[in-house]
Amino acid sequence: MSQFWSPAVRELTPYVPGEQPTEQVIKLNTNENPYPPAPGVGEVLRQYSTSHLRLYPDPTSSMLCSALASAYGVHAGQVFVGNGSDEVLAFAFQAFFCHDAPLDVPSITYSFYPVYAKLYGVELRQHPLNASWEVDLDALAGADDRSGIIFANPNAPTGHAHSPAGLEALLKRVTDRVVLVDEAYVDFGAQSAVALTERYPNLLVTGTFSKSRSLAGIRLGYAIGSPELIEGLTRIKDSFNSYPVDRLAERVGIAALEDTEHFNACRNHVITTRERTRTQLEALGFEVLPSQANFLLVQHKVYDGSQLFAGLRKRGILVRYFNKPGLNNFLRISIGTDDEMNSLIETLEVLCG
Ligand SMILES: Cc1ncc(COP(=O)(O)O)c(C=O)c1O
Repeated sequence: MSQFWSPAVRELTPYVPGEQPTEQVIKLNTNENPYPPAPGVGEVLRQYSTSHLRLYPDPTSSMLCSALASAYGVHAGQVFVGNGSDEVLAFAFQAFFCHDAPLDVPSITYSFYPVYAKLYGVELRQHPLNASWEVDLDALAGADDRSGIIFANPNAPTGHAHSPAGLEALLKRVTDRVVLVDEAYVDFGAQSAVALTERYPNLLVTGTFSKSRSLAGIRLGYAIGSPELIEGLTRIKDSFNSYPVDRLAERVGIAALEDTEHFNACRNHVITTRERTRTQLEALGFEVLPSQANFLLVQHKVYDGSQLFAGLRKRGILVRYFNKPGLNNFLRISIGTDDEMNSLIETLEVLCG
């Protein structure tokens, strides 16, 4: 606590990101992609002329917005890009959720949402997941008055995804405020809700290049929605930082979007590895939640989650442990390469033997 901090800073509880170790470990803790980005990304970086870096980037990243628009079959005016989807989410909180009513969220979802809520003074109304560990869309839609609704689909850290039909039922009921669907993990087996943005002007879908495009290190995220929502985000961006996406990141993002073959090969590989790992974990006595994401949420029927986390850590395997009510016996395991997952299973055989 410093005398120089403002009262607001004193009150904050910042998000704690998963550990980014400097030593060599098998890193299965922050849902990065185990495969490299598309080869075209390397070409962009190798051929980029540093003289371009004298100049500020395009404030609207219009070429990247157009590339995303054609990838999703929408107009460029329906796309917003930012420095990682975390930044896009922060802008969305400011642009849409700062009203005198609570924001409806699942009680178990991406743990950055409560941090933004605190930062921007947004009250949260939390709804438990249903008995199958799914986001309870009925409960989310149930209130008369709200500042909005936000959840991840697939949800994090559970991995379950609702279908677009399920989301549309929610959107038919909630028309007065923004419904934000965070699709950070959608490419690993779920269906995107982007097509619904044509019919529901209050739907904002966010996405990221960090997971299925293997670009967590470049920091690129986006939102797709009606032009009025995009304008709301742009008004916040231009009151904060006009150039959140740098010149190289824009070019790299376009190269990643162009290579659909590489994209499909990587995500299919991750999905196949996920399902094989599920079977192996179940054989070792784990309960494994169904997942349409690039991670599995698991708990052992006998062994304690925090001890398994520590045992794996000691043997050079990093997974995510959330010391939170409802989750404190679980481990969230990102899907790595086949070799990495084989090491995980061999180590768990020792720890659970
Ligand atoms: C559900 C969810 N949304 C958004 C993000 C943020 O992604 P990024 O800021 O890397 O685009 C994450 C990162 O793990 C996430 O799990």
